[in-house]
Order: sequence, then C-alpha cells, then structure tokens
Amino acid sequence: VANADLVIVGAGLFGLTIAQQVVEHNPTARVHIIDVRNHIGGNAYSYFDEQTGAEIHKYGAHLFHTSSKRVWDYVNRFTTFTNYVHRVYTTHNGEVFPLPINLGTINQFFHAAYTPAQAKALIEQQAGEYADVDPQNLNDQGIKLIGKPLYEAFIKNYTAKQWQTDPEQLPATIIRRLPVRFTYNNRYFKDTWEGLPIDGYTAWFQRMIDNPRIEVSLGVDFFDTSQPLNKAALVGKVPIVYTGPIDRYFGYSEGELKWRTVDFKEVRYAEDDHFGCPVMNYADADVPYTRAIEFKHFNPERADKQSHDNTVVWYEYSRFAGRDDDPYYPVNTDADKATYNKYKNLESAEPQVVFGGRLGQYAYFDMWATIDSALTAYEEQVAPLLKESLNA
Ligand code: FDA
Repeated sequence: VANADLVIVGAGLFGLTIAQQVVEHNPTARVHIIDVRNHIGGNAYSYFDEQTGAEIHKYGAHLFHTSSKRVWDYVNRFTTFTNYVHRVYTTHNGEVFPLPINLGTINQFFHAAYTPAQAKALIEQQAGEYADVDPQNLNDQGIKLIGKPLYEAFIKNYTAKQWQTDPEQLPATIIRRLPVRFTYNNRYFKDTWEGLPIDGYTAWFQRMIDNPRIEVSLGVDFFDTSQPLNKAALVGKVPIVYTGPIDRYFGYSEGELKWRTVDFKEVRYAEDDHFGCPVMNYADADVPYTRAIEFKHFNPERADKQSHDNTVVWYEYSRFAGRDDDPYYPVNTDADKATYNKYKNLESAEPQVVFGGRLGQYAYFDMWATIDSALTAYEEQVAPLLKESLNA
C-alpha cells in the first residue's frame, strides 16, 4: 500500500525525530510522514511575519530549554541556538511585577525591603494560616502553599481564567507546588541550556528530515479513507508511528479525553515596542485574556531585520477544547486518567503501531521531553518493529 517501510502520522517533533532516526540507522529504509496540517513542526511550528519581521509561533510561545545532554547534543546537529533567556512579567492592579514570584515581586508587592530570610519568614507565616487545612480545592491549596496575599494577587484569577472555572471548584491537585524564589533571579527556566533556533523553528525542522528517503505529505488526514495513506488501508500492512490523539485512533470507543485549548487574538501596534518584554501575563479577573506575546522580543538579535514602526502582539484566551479545536493541555482529571488507561490497554491489539507524542500519550511534554521520548521510542519500539518488517 505505502511505498515506504514506515508511515508516521504527524510531522510534530515526535514524528520528525523518529523519521530522522530511522533513515540515519537504516541505510535503505524509506519513511513517509503525513500530517493533516499544511506545515511540518506540529505545535512548535512558526512563520515569519511580513510586516514586522517577527517570528510568530503559530500555536503559542515556544521556548526551547533542556537539561538533557542527550537532547541538547541531538538538537544542535540541526540548528544552533541564540542566547535568549526567557523572562515573564505580570500586570496586577495596574502595576507590573516580575515572575516567577521572587524577592523582587514580594518586595514590590508589600512595599518592603525584606531580606531573603525575612521574606521567607513572612510567606511561611502567611501560609501557616492554613497549616491545619486539608486542601479540598485549588483555592485552599494555593493559600496553603504561599499564603493568601500572594496567592490571591498572582495565582487565583490567572488560574481561574486558564480553567474558566472558579478555583474553589477546581481540584487541589492542579497545583502541587508554587515555587517562590527568595532571590531576585527571575530567569524563568532553570535548565542548563536555553535558547531559540537561530534561523527559526521551521528551518530547524526541515533540516531534521532533509533526506531523499523521507517523504512528507501535508494536508492528509489519517482517518480520511478517500486518500491512500489512511488507517484502514495501512494498519497491519506496514509499521506505523501514530502521534495523533489516541481516543480518535480508537474511534472514541472508551470516551473522549478532555483538553484545554487557547484562542489567539492578533493586534498590531504602530510602534516599535508595546510591552518591553516578550510575555506579559494578566493576573486580574477583569482582563479576559491570560497573557500577551510580543514576538519581536524573542529575537532581539534580529533587530536590523525587524520593523521599528510596527509590532505584532497575540492575546491568549484559554478555554475547554471541543473535538474540532486544537488540543493544547490535557485536563487530566482522574476520569481522564482512567479513560487513557483503557486506551493504553487497547494498544496491545495493534502490534504494528507505536503510539507516541503528546497526543498519542495524552500528556503535556515540553519539546525536549518529546524529543527524548522519541529517541527512546525509536530504540525500544520502532527499531525492532522495522527490523522485523524489513526482514520479512
Ligand atoms: P504535535 O502536536 O506537535 O504534533 C502532532 C502532529 O500530528 C500535528 O502536527 C497534527 O496535525 C498531526 N496529526 C494529528 N492527528 C492527525 C491525523 N489524523 N492525520 C494526520 N496528522 C495528524 N514546549 C517547550 O519546550 N517550550 C515551550 O515554550 C512550549 N510552549 C508550548 C505552548 C503551548 C500553547 C503548547 C500547547 C505546547 C507548548 N510546548 C512547549 C510543547 C510542545 O508544543 C510539544 O512538546 C511538541 O509540540 C510535541 O510534539 P508532538 O510531535 O508530540 O505533537
């Protein structure tokens, strides 16, 4: 059916990593990747905006960071990275504060000059108010972790907007920790390596699959039986790596897995710089969006190629996803986990299919974790499957 030794459903980072590994380790193997979207890169895809020269991350801000030497060495084969360091600010009550909550945030919020030890003692005292409370909802949990003032200012309404749900109705388990830093360090990620691909995400991804034995077909839905590379035609005939939603693969037989999605509203401003930073969160309930991304700031090194008269900003609105929306963050309630486990059990009936990636595993993975899990899946699952079918 397929003119390939392996078919990969999904040209996101999981699928691309598998494709790259297959042709690297198997000198004659041919791979065919399909994706229902009209571009490669999955959710990490970006494009360049004509008016401003900004690199727009089409599915939300994507910042690369990792502490895995294996992943860092791997990605550096296909791109170099800028020295971008991610920092986030938040607007609360008409004032801008640094995030994650750090000594700068605390001292600005309390109009104080606390030392690290004084700030720590204060937060412990404020959190201590709920020391004996067994948190039944996210509200209690938040207060128990960092005390009422900081929780209510910076976490409560932001989380409510993310979930479109009153935190008193949300499970406590959504936040296990709320890290507070007792230094002025507001570097967002703590990983060893961090940066953005020097000539953009898409150039990086294209280099991963720059091989005549890798074919890519875009705009192709694996469940569309009117085109040749579809589930009914392929399963059992050729090894498959499937990185789409797992519930969809099994026809939703065990029920639907729930996701949150994000809507973006683009606004253009006739000015060089609108926020002075790449990401501005909005902590308050009266602002309907959760945050805004000003893309030019991700690549200050491209200043001479960017417009200084215009800038482009995307405002983010969070909501629960319907079946036709882009699934972004797994909701992951206990019911969802139970449903996912049922699908996981169905996988054993499909010995020629490897399920991977965030949609195939119903999980949130950062990019490095997606690549890491694809490298492992190649070694442990795909290579043996391919060997079997190449020998057959
Ligand atoms: P991904 O979703 O990218 O790819 C799956 C592909 O399968 C898609 O292209 C889809 O079209 C295709 N597909 C699905 N069904 C199909 C079908 N029936 N037929 C054909 N094709 C089909 N990570 C990070 O490290 N730093 C960050 O800053 C961020 N930021 C971030 C923001 C937001 C809003 C999200 C949602 C995610 C992030 N991430 C992130 C995570 C990052 O996006 C993630 O690690 C990778 O995109 C996962 O790659 P996958 O290949 O697993 O899925």
